[in-house]
Amino acid sequence: MKFTINGRSYEAEADIRTSVLDLLREHVGLTGSKKGCDHGQCGACTVLINGRRVNSCLTLAVMHQDDEITTIEGLGTPDDLHPLQAAFVAHDGYQCGYCTPGQICSAVGMLDEAKKGWPSHVSADLEHSDLSDAEISERMSGNICRCAAYPNIVDAIREVAGRAPAGRD
Ligand code: FES
Ligand code: FES
Repeated sequence: MKFTINGRSYEAEADIRTSVLDLLREHVGLTGSKKGCDHGQCGACTVLINGRRVNSCLTLAVMHQDDEITTIEGLGTPDDLHPLQAAFVAHDGYQCGYCTPGQICSAVGMLDEAKKGWPSHVSADLEHSDLSDAEISERMSGNICRCAAYPNIVDAIREVAGRAPAGRD
């Protein structure tokens, strides 16, 4: 099978039942995406597929040969962090870090969804800066943090969304 991951082409010989998560971790050596539950409950495996956040443990690689897959490795580099990566560092948005790649990929997708007015009850002209802390938490609720770094995760996302600190810092 052939894939485009983080703008690079990959070929992999894999069982037809291989998930995107196992493709990434076991076949192409991209281990940034984490396996927490392997059945759609924790969000640790979240990647972006054509810009939308997806639990990579729940979707088969064979379905995504014509798609653009982006993982945490494709968002930034240690010398050139994505704004959300930098904000997670600045706000200590993690403890053990296991959930962090999924949290950051999910936050990238979430901010894009918010901009587009998804879900439909949200105004299509919503600005990122209109996202309340509660809205951010709700929209990130598919990403579990065993270390409970939630307040700092929200702080990091709020900063990138362009809202002033809520006074907790
Ligand atoms: Fe995919 Fe938990 S490993 S949701
Ligand atoms: Fe440990 Fe989130 S930082 S699980």
